[in-house]
Amino acid sequence: MCGIYGHIKKGSKTNSAIACIDGLKRLEYRGYDSAGIAGIHQGKIVSYKTVGKVRTLDRVVQDNNLDLKMAIAHTRWATHGSITELNAHPHFDEEKALALVHNGIIENYQKIKKTLTSAGIKFISETDTEVISHLISFHYNGDIAKAVEKTLPELEGSFAIALIHKDHPDRILVATRGCPLAIGVCHDSKDIYISSDSNAFTGRSLDVFYLHDDEYAVVTEATIEVYNMAGIKLTKSLEVLNLEEKFISKDGYEHFLLKEIHEQPLSVERALHGRLDFKNGTANFEELSLSDDLLKKTTRILILACGSSYHAGCIAKQIFESLAKIPTEVEIASEFRYRNPIILENTLVIAISQSGETADTLAAVKEAKRSNSPVIALCNVKRSSLSRLAKSTLWLNAGPEISVCSTKAFTSQLSLLMLLALKIARTKDLDLAGGKAFLSHIENLGKQISAVISKAPEFKLLASKYASFKQFFFIGRNYMYPTCLEAALKLKEISYINASGYPAGEMKHGPIALISKDLATVAFCGNVHTFDKLLSNLMEIKSRGGPILAFAPEGYNEILGITDDVIFLPKQISDPFAPIPYSIAGQLFAYYIAILLGTDIDQPRNLAKSVTVE
Ligand code: AGP
Repeated sequence: MCGIYGHIKKGSKTNSAIACIDGLKRLEYRGYDSAGIAGIHQGKIVSYKTVGKVRTLDRVVQDNNLDLKMAIAHTRWATHGSITELNAHPHFDEEKALALVHNGIIENYQKIKKTLTSAGIKFISETDTEVISHLISFHYNGDIAKAVEKTLPELEGSFAIALIHKDHPDRILVATRGCPLAIGVCHDSKDIYISSDSNAFTGRSLDVFYLHDDEYAVVTEATIEVYNMAGIKLTKSLEVLNLEEKFISKDGYEHFLLKEIHEQPLSVERALHGRLDFKNGTANFEELSLSDDLLKKTTRILILACGSSYHAGCIAKQIFESLAKIPTEVEIASEFRYRNPIILENTLVIAISQSGETADTLAAVKEAKRSNSPVIALCNVKRSSLSRLAKSTLWLNAGPEISVCSTKAFTSQLSLLMLLALKIARTKDLDLAGGKAFLSHIENLGKQISAVISKAPEFKLLASKYASFKQFFFIGRNYMYPTCLEAALKLKEISYINASGYPAGEMKHGPIALISKDLATVAFCGNVHTFDKLLSNLMEIKSRGGPILAFAPEGYNEILGITDDVIFLPKQISDPFAPIPYSIAGQLFAYYIAILLGTDIDQPRNLAKSVTVE
């Protein structure tokens, strides 16, 4: 995983070390286990590495007055090797003649390591990355570009790399396969910027291009030369990027997570804005390039996603099937890519990803595209890799989601998926009145979200009662089952408590064995259609001494006699819309528990906002 940043100073007064630290801070969503930087000073590689977040490296760089005209830098999410300074990037060859940073995984690193070790080369880290440094050095014969060119075909797996060599102090070499890498030339200063994500170029106006798979580039302050693996020089077309500096603050909230939870009335409104067509009882998407005719012909939907985005897909499946009557499969992207999937004719593929950079989702989409099915992406981050792969991208417009734990992006995904289901349903059998009724429920969501958020003090109070439990079940039926999967993920992610989302009716087939006074059950009762059935399932838990907290719609007072605690949520109007308010209830509950447990809420341990490796 990880984020790569590089800078070559030309016309500006910018110190490349500071430019890189600034860039790394914007890339920290890709991992924050350790950070490092390297440049060349007086003919030698100079480098600093620190364990932990970029701010620690920043302090070291400042304390040492590191002043560079060219630098490469890295923020790491550990894959191979523990979180130590030795395993932090950059990695070097034996003589420390070159320094290299890497995003991705070298799958054949052990084989290469064995060969190099038997040639007498000594390794000092546990990483896969170190083999690239040694291999380039092994092939180096005075021409660093040729050494890179010789090395690339020997690497299996995915990578974006950037490297410098002390004998060539004017250049950074970069190469990619399966990982994004953007290169930009600043309009004013002509300084060169290199990054895993062009969004990290914020605050500047640049000409930008992305390297494609199996390309490498030699970047100096004067020229950028791009080659393919055969050494043939390529021409790249540039895209002008004007990225305004947006200062993203917590707006007085203690955490970005809490701010983002509170933003949801607005972010959902932005997801819906301009897309509700009341006159025709449908939804309109400016960005959708697929014709109504093609949508009408769709006989199957395949949704690909990971994590929270996958949960959004699971909820959407039920809506696509009940509203548009289209059989829908939802696949965890990391599973889909390796199981020889059958994609029938007239399948519409929907890929959901907040970041648009999730490696598993990208790979699954590439696999799905082999069937020539049209791909619609739902993304939040503009210019992301997924949006470049898809035929059409529907933008969430949720605004930057900083907290690693997804909240507002998830509810925006749901909002958009509901609209897409409506649009497709209207090309099929759903009549105008049905379409209009669906829209009026969607329009009502803002009020429901605000009503849930206004109950924050109740969630806080009950969190203090339940924070001491070490295990949780989140149970619900129909639409509430995938909503529970999401709620359990929130709790796991930010409080580090073991939680399982489970279909309430399935508890009796095994998991009920776990019920005791030490395991808390949170019942999501937002599926009115199955409310009575859920009550029976809760009785079964109560009879076995399990404590129960319920989130239930106002007016459903029967719940009071069964559960230990209840938080009443807005009166239920229609089941398919309940996942939005109920998932916000889950977010608030997880947040207040995490507060009591004192975890790192916005950047929980072991996680990254964007998972760019398999
Ligand atoms: C959600 O809270 C998680 N951080 C994670 O599951 C996330 O949803 C997943 O990694 C997918 O990310 P994406 O939407 O950017 O593809």
